[in-house]
Amino acid sequence: MPLIQWKNEFAIGIPAVDHEHQGMIALINALHDGLSKRTASRGEVVDMLGEIHARIAAHFALEEREMRQIRYDRFTDHKEDHELLLDEIREIMDDVELGGAADYAASLSQRLERWFSEHFRTHDARLHKFLEGKT
Ligand SMILES: [Fe+2]
Ligand SMILES: [Fe+2]
Repeated sequence: MPLIQWKNEFAIGIPAVDHEHQGMIALINALHDGLSKRTASRGEVVDMLGEIHARIAAHFALEEREMRQIRYDRFTDHKEDHELLLDEIREIMDDVELGGAADYAASLSQRLERWFSEHFRTHDARLHKFLEGKT
C-alpha cells in the first residue's frame, strides 16, 4: 500500500502543478516501498532521498520564484514551510547514513505524509488559486 495516497483534496486544479505533485508523491512512495520490503540497501535509500530532495527543491524554487514575482502576501510563511520539509529530508538522510535510526522507515512515513497532506491543502492551494486569479 502506498505511503501517500493521492486525494482529490490535494488537487489545486492546475494540471502542470498537480502533475508535479503527483510525481513527488510517486518518488516518496517508491522509497517507502523499498524500505518496507527491505529490498533497498542503505546506499540506495540515501540515493533515493537525494533524488527526492533535488526534485522537491526544484519544485519549491519554482514556486518561490512565482511568489517573488507577484509579491505574494504569504511568501514568508510559505517559504518557511518549504525550508522545514527540506531540513527534515536532510535530517532523515543523516539518520540513515549514520545508521542510528533503526526505525527511520516509520519516522519517514510520519514526517512526509503529514507534511505533504498539509502543505498541498493549505499553502499550495492558496498560492495557486491566487496565481490563477492573476492570469
Ligand atoms: Fe507545490
Ligand atoms: Fe509550496
